[in-house]
Amino acid sequence: MFFTSEYKSRQLVTSVWPLFFLALMVHPIYSEEIFQSRIVYYPIGTQYSPVNQAAQLLSTIITNSLKACAIACNQNVLCRIIEYDISASEQCRLFEGDIDTTGSIITLPSQSRVGVVQISASLFSQHGFSCGTSCQENRYLTCQNDSTCQCMPHTYWNKTASICMSQSSLLGAPCQQNMSMCREDLGYSCLPTNLCGYATIETTTSIVSTNLVTSMRSSTMVVTTESNTNAAYEITSTSPSISIQTSASTTLANHVTTDVSLASPTTKQSTEISTDTITSTSSTAEFRIGITVAGYDNMSAGDDALGLSAPRGIYVSPLNETLYVCDSNNFRVQRFHFGSRLGVTVAGGFGTPQRNIIMNRIWNVYVDNTQNVYVADRNLNRATRWPPNITVNVTQGAIISRGVGLWGIAFDQHGNLYTALFDTHVIVLNNVTIIGGQYNISGNSSTKLNNPRGIFFDNNSSLLFVCDSANHRIQRFRVNSTVGVTVAGGNGPGSDPNQLNYPNAIWVSSKTGFMYIADSNNNRIQRWKINDTQAVTVAGTGIAGNLSTMFNSPVGVALNANETFLYVADSNNNRVQCFDLTV
Ligand SMILES: *[C@@H]1O[C@H](CO)[C@@H](O)[C@H](O)[C@H]1NC(C)=O
Ligand SMILES: *[C@@H]1O[C@H](CO)[C@@H](O)[C@H](O)[C@H]1NC(C)=O
Ligand SMILES: *[C@@H]1O[C@H](CO)[C@@H](O)[C@H](O)[C@H]1NC(C)=O
Ligand SMILES: *[C@@H]1O[C@H](CO)[C@@H](O)[C@H](O)[C@H]1NC(C)=O
Ligand SMILES: *[C@@H]1O[C@H](CO)[C@@H](O)[C@H](O)[C@H]1NC(C)=O
Ligand SMILES: *[C@@H]1O[C@H](CO)[C@@H](O)[C@H](O)[C@H]1NC(C)=O
Ligand SMILES: *[C@@H]1O[C@H](CO)[C@@H](O)[C@H](O)[C@H]1NC(C)=O
Ligand SMILES: *[C@@H]1O[C@H](CO)[C@@H](O)[C@H](O)[C@H]1NC(C)=O
Ligand SMILES: *[C@@H]1O[C@H](CO)[C@@H](O)[C@H](O)[C@H]1NC(C)=O
Ligand SMILES: *[C@@H]1O[C@H](CO)[C@@H](O)[C@H](O)[C@H]1NC(C)=O
Ligand SMILES: *[C@@H]1O[C@H](CO)[C@@H](O)[C@H](O)[C@H]1NC(C)=O
Ligand SMILES: *[C@@H]1O[C@H](CO)[C@@H](O)[C@H](O)[C@H]1NC(C)=O
Repeated sequence: MFFTSEYKSRQLVTSVWPLFFLALMVHPIYSEEIFQSRIVYYPIGTQYSPVNQAAQLLSTIITNSLKACAIACNQNVLCRIIEYDISASEQCRLFEGDIDTTGSIITLPSQSRVGVVQISASLFSQHGFSCGTSCQENRYLTCQNDSTCQCMPHTYWNKTASICMSQSSLLGAPCQQNMSMCREDLGYSCLPTNLCGYATIETTTSIVSTNLVTSMRSSTMVVTTESNTNAAYEITSTSPSISIQTSASTTLANHVTTDVSLASPTTKQSTEISTDTITSTSSTAEFRIGITVAGYDNMSAGDDALGLSAPRGIYVSPLNETLYVCDSNNFRVQRFHFGSRLGVTVAGGFGTPQRNIIMNRIWNVYVDNTQNVYVADRNLNRATRWPPNITVNVTQGAIISRGVGLWGIAFDQHGNLYTALFDTHVIVLNNVTIIGGQYNISGNSSTKLNNPRGIFFDNNSSLLFVCDSANHRIQRFRVNSTVGVTVAGGNGPGSDPNQLNYPNAIWVSSKTGFMYIADSNNNRIQRWKINDTQAVTVAGTGIAGNLSTMFNSPVGVALNANETFLYVADSNNNRVQCFDLTV
């Protein structure tokens, strides 16, 4: 074995490791001292999955041994974790962060292995002392303001443990006030809720189609669009004051109405807006910031473990927030454990060009509590079931249902299967019984459907919700009744708050019954309350784009069990975005 021959003299680390490593189910097996630091190694077949690759990956280099990789880590004061893969061109990746709180070790059948720098208090004995020569000799401390030895960037002082610990690169990570526990370079600070987040969001939002260019600094930005005219915006904010830069603006009572003519840099003016200007006009869109939780950060498609290509339906396990994504152009379903960007294929994905015989247009996915994965395949006109751990040579999922244009899939708590057949306009129960629509007849009456897409069974109410896409509405069906009730949209295609435009997916809150609808052609996610005649936009700006507030064809939607996070498959941006619903 590669490792034992090269490192057989290294000491074996026995049971001195705290419990959190046990929780990872992989144990470090060797450790070695490199200069001042000790590195512990995990077995071959381990990889590091940072919660925020863009923020944590320091460098990717080529080294001719694991030890050379460890030395490279040692030379970078921010490095805490290494990952070395002899088979992948001897790639050595250096990460900052904390193995416990800002990433995880995953096991894969590969030649890569992870090493973690073990930090002991003795390395920080000079902390707080006057600089002199003492901290210049210490790699983990830096002389601040020519006076005292302080923690390096991206780390903070833990008084209890007397060490500098890695700041969290995880949005929403717990923190304590005054301790610099959050990655300030990412714009996070410790919010009053004691979670890392954006206290002030500095973002430039370009609303391209109207040429309104605003530059905002606020914790929440609310842009309200008048329905009667496209030429005026009312811009309000919950923060004490924001400034809006635009070509012309007029203040009407408490409201600021900005002209949409292109902002000219020479005529910009700032307007202070008071906090009490929130209005109840036609549509209100909170410009929530999305965090990419799957797919590259750069909108490109990719077919490796980090990449996605045209993600479609998604599912979030209520058990542990594991995310499943129909990675449609890669003909596979990817699984992402919470906090990990590294996808694992749980259905399809085998070989080219044959793989599109196994899967073709996979538009939706459902996962049961024993991790069977169910896939709706529109072009192959069927739903398949894939057992957990398909690496044991499962190249074909069992066919559990057939239907022309099978697009949506759902189960109720009794295990009944519901499928939506896009091309034949019906909802089918257990492969046999039509419970909604009429076979191959489209229409917009209560007993008809027109191109049903995503569906969702709400176990609380025992009601089935159907995206009746070409009718631009959501139909709700009672068990044993083939008469649907329109509960959202149905007012023709459009972008008013009472309208939808080709809804693709729906997820119903088990706590409130509110519907979260992927209003795909409007590039927004709508939250529609029961019996309401209109919706509120909870994510997306209504305009296609690739900023963190925007979507380009959102076609999948899911909530986590405690409904703090909204997940959206942002198909044309090749990413899955996550939105914190608590802010
Ligand atoms: C160093 O100086 C800056 C500005 O002069 C100050 O804000 C900061 O608190 C100082 N840091 C320490 C550790 O004294
Ligand atoms: C400080 O370190 C101790 C020991 O590792 C840990 O239990 C504690 O949570 C840390 N405190 C902070 C604020 O990071
Ligand atoms: C900690 O923060 C609070 C406000 O959040 C402030 O009032 C207090 O002075 C700070 N304490 C220290 C030691 O910096
Ligand atoms: C996007 O990111 C991936 C992964 O980091 C990289 O391989 C790819 O080249 C990037 N694409 C572009 C256009 O930058
Ligand atoms: C839950 O997620 C963890 C990793 O976060 C994973 O190891 C475990 O298999 C998952 N369990 C289920 C039932 O999905
Ligand atoms: C899947 O694999 C994991 C790890 O290899 C194992 O712990 C788990 O029991 C397996 N699940 C099933 C259903 O075989
Ligand atoms: C999986 O397939 C490969 C190649 O077809 C074969 O060599 C291997 O024995 C198979 N493994 C199992 C567990 O069936
Ligand atoms: C569903 O229909 C397909 C094709 O007609 C058939 O192969 C399959 O066995 C059926 N499944 C069930 C559960 O009835
Ligand atoms: C649906 O109806 C059309 C004609 O309206 C027909 O051409 C087509 O074959 C039918 N499809 C199915 C699956 O019955
Ligand atoms: C639906 O019909 C079946 C059989 O006809 C019956 O067993 C079931 O109780 C009915 N469910 C509801 C909710 O009415
Ligand atoms: C919705 O309206 C129906 C009929 O008016 C009523 O029975 C139901 O209680 C209402 N639901 C909610 C959540 O308001
Ligand atoms: C909600 O779930 C997330 C992820 O599972 C967890 O981090 C968070 O603490 C939960 N929040 C509440 C209020 O339970």
